[in-house]
Amino acid sequence: MNINNMLNDYEEMGKKNGNNGNSAEELRKQKEEELQKKIDEACRQKDKKAEYEAFKRMPLNTMDMTLNDIKNTWSVEESKQVDKAIKFVYDFNKLDTGLYLYSKQSGTGKTTLASAIARAVFKHQSVPIFYGSEEYILSKIRETYQENSSISEDDYIKKIAKNKLVVIDELGQNVSDWSIKTLKRLLDEMMNYNSILVVTSNYGLNDLAIRLLNNQSNNENRTVTQLLDRLKGMTEPVKFGDKSFR
Ligand SMILES: Nc1ncnc2c1ncn2[C@@H]1O[C@H](COP(=O)(O)OP(=O)(O)O)[C@@H](O)[C@H]1O
Ligand SMILES: [Mg+2]
Repeated sequence: MNINNMLNDYEEMGKKNGNNGNSAEELRKQKEEELQKKIDEACRQKDKKAEYEAFKRMPLNTMDMTLNDIKNTWSVEESKQVDKAIKFVYDFNKLDTGLYLYSKQSGTGKTTLASAIARAVFKHQSVPIFYGSEEYILSKIRETYQENSSISEDDYIKKIAKNKLVVIDELGQNVSDWSIKTLKRLLDEMMNYNSILVVTSNYGLNDLAIRLLNNQSNNENRTVTQLLDRLKGMTEPVKFGDKSFR
């Protein structure tokens, strides 16, 4: 058999194996595609994990309500608040103040709107968000005092504060000196990172001032005033109606 026949034979063998005689190139392409698929899948898993971490503390009954759903189902009395939320998400990258959603009455939609805002900012503006109740945040910070804690109080506060959007649900429940001081520290860190704050509360800022000052010893009044100043500076008040939907 001469060389030419031999080469022909190899080519035929390649075709039979489905390599079309171009096996190295084909194989490389195939490997590349497989690798890309694996990378894409890993990214999807990472995104899913980030989303899970960001959303896991939102009340379950608010999870399937997008801002659009809210706009389409809530009555006109709330349309001002809902429009404000939509504009907030749209303008997020240009904002320098957040929102303070409040009403004395509970069941008026504050938490539902705040969690929809946070999901929309996460998805449409692709920025890291933190969502948690005041109670949760304070209890996690308290945990850092334990001897076996893997993170310091300072680092935990920074970890929350550096999310571009931080939502604190039900602010104003805790009135102790330590709670006020700790929340003030969190807001100070948020200002360092230029993060945006969204709060829900059953107390407007004046009612919150009365509530907190009534519970403080005289030498802690300054911290209350500082906390209230931060809240005032970092958010725009949005009042909700008094009708409960619970
Ligand atoms: N304006 C509204 N129209 C219809 N349902 C509403 C409205 N506001 C709130 N709800 C519903 O009422 C329930 C309680 O709302 P929530 O957001 O927890 O209130 P809040 O945080 O003010 O206590 C939720 O199931 C929510 O979907
Ligand atoms: Mg609520």
